[in-house]
Amino acid sequence: MSRITTSTLRKMKQAGEKITCLTAYDSSFSQILEEEGVEILLVGDSLGMVMQGQDSTLPVKLADMIYHTQMVRSVNKSALVMTDLPFMTYATPMQALASSGRLMKEGGAHMVKLEGGANMVETVGHLAEQGIPVCAHLGLLPQSVNKLGGYKVQGRTEKEAQKMLADAVAMEAAGADIILLECVPSILAAEITAALDVPVIGIGAGPQCDAQVLVLYDMLGITSGKRPRFTKDFLEASGDIRGAVRAYVQAVKNGSFPADEHSF
Ligand code: KIV
Repeated sequence: MSRITTSTLRKMKQAGEKITCLTAYDSSFSQILEEEGVEILLVGDSLGMVMQGQDSTLPVKLADMIYHTQMVRSVNKSALVMTDLPFMTYATPMQALASSGRLMKEGGAHMVKLEGGANMVETVGHLAEQGIPVCAHLGLLPQSVNKLGGYKVQGRTEKEAQKMLADAVAMEAAGADIILLECVPSILAAEITAALDVPVIGIGAGPQCDAQVLVLYDMLGITSGKRPRFTKDFLEASGDIRGAVRAYVQAVKNGSFPADEHSF
């Protein structure tokens, strides 16, 4: 199987083929996800919560992200591996460059992801100039949970919606290769997806996005606490892990996930 690259993903968007993404943190899941056809493996800083037992993503260290990216990459042959820049490792363009360089050189990441809108445009431009593929995460920004006052849907007012659209356009112009929208009304996510040439990944952003992502442990139904509305337990119906991943890939590809009940 040939390597999924940013140009593969753009072609898929142009062809209207849905793209699948799941988080992965180790080699066993990396292999299963890839074998079941998941195109993007996200080494998310959600590992702070689902693997380390932290109550947010804020304590996650760059060294943690490098370690888990190495584990995911150890068996990876075809999927594109995207790794989160953790909180406070990209506060300036120079710091972002140094941190991204480590994720790629030491971890083997193919792409980095950062959270932020207009405030991150210069940083995205700086990384793109240095040949670093970037995914810009907009909407609900988990690293800003203390500033946002909780995990809430973003872009509900006309003013917020216009700003998010403008931020997405500015990110693409600065060189972002993917935009990720978290907890955004479906109608706004659809507008942003249509406005951009680069693929848009959604989580809690409705069915019109080019791609979908879920935290792996959420879609396996093993995350403790209240299940967020936008997730679905695929293990329940399939009964085994590989079957659950296969069902997720099929549901994203045929457009049956996310349904209205998973959207805002
Ligand atoms: O860290 C993560 O898993 C993420 C997803 C929620 C998109 O950023």
